[in-house]
Amino acid sequence: MATLERLDVSHAPALLRFERENRAFFARSVPDRGDGYFAGFDARHAALLAEQAAGTCHFHVLIDDDGEVLGRFNLVDVLDGSAELGFRVAERATGQGVASEGVRRVLGLARDEYGLSRLYASAALDNAASLGVLRRTGFTPAGEVTLEGRPGLRHVRQLTAPD
Ligand SMILES: CC(C)(COP(=O)(O)OP(=O)(O)OC[C@H]1O[C@@H](n2cnc3c(N)ncnc32)[C@H](O)[C@@H]1OP(=O)(O)O)[C@@H](O)C(=O)NCCC(=O)NCCS
Repeated sequence: MATLERLDVSHAPALLRFERENRAFFARSVPDRGDGYFAGFDARHAALLAEQAAGTCHFHVLIDDDGEVLGRFNLVDVLDGSAELGFRVAERATGQGVASEGVRRVLGLARDEYGLSRLYASAALDNAASLGVLRRTGFTPAGEVTLEGRPGLRHVRQLTAPD
């Protein structure tokens, strides 16, 4: 059974493997992180943990029984009770509801642990899998956006009502 864990320093090696192994898969749907991301991974990881400690973001990894990362679910730009959600799942684990379940768990944490009342998430119109996850987890479209030049939809999810 996979566990959703708050990102910490011990996750760095598995997270780097996850990003390396799935780089080409992710780049088909979202902008590639670039070679610099991989070269400077450890410093960036430390910087992300410092941001998390300051309370402006909450990072989570879904870990399988072998200690490998199945997905990551991030809340960034935490401000005035709201935050922006982003997620990605290992190619080998897709199509099994992993993203939907991870998002549901993060919704609970956002409301109960972090005291947030509203989440936003954006997906490109041609990212059907991501749009499916957002719809299934109760997000509703809230306006058009442009994501790296691609048309997309911004979504909102109120957290005050029970899931
Ligand atoms: C988007 C992503 C997180 C989905 O992960 P996942 O674990 O496969 O998602 P789930 O299985 O929970 O749900 C996917 C659902 O979307 C829909 N879906 C998936 N692929 C689809 C496709 N090619 N066309 C239409 N609908 C699709 C389906 O409804 C599917 O659920 P179902 O198979 O149970 O009906 C994963 O594909 C990924 O990491 N992609 C690259 C990064 C990315 O796009 N992140 C989101 C940025 S906004």
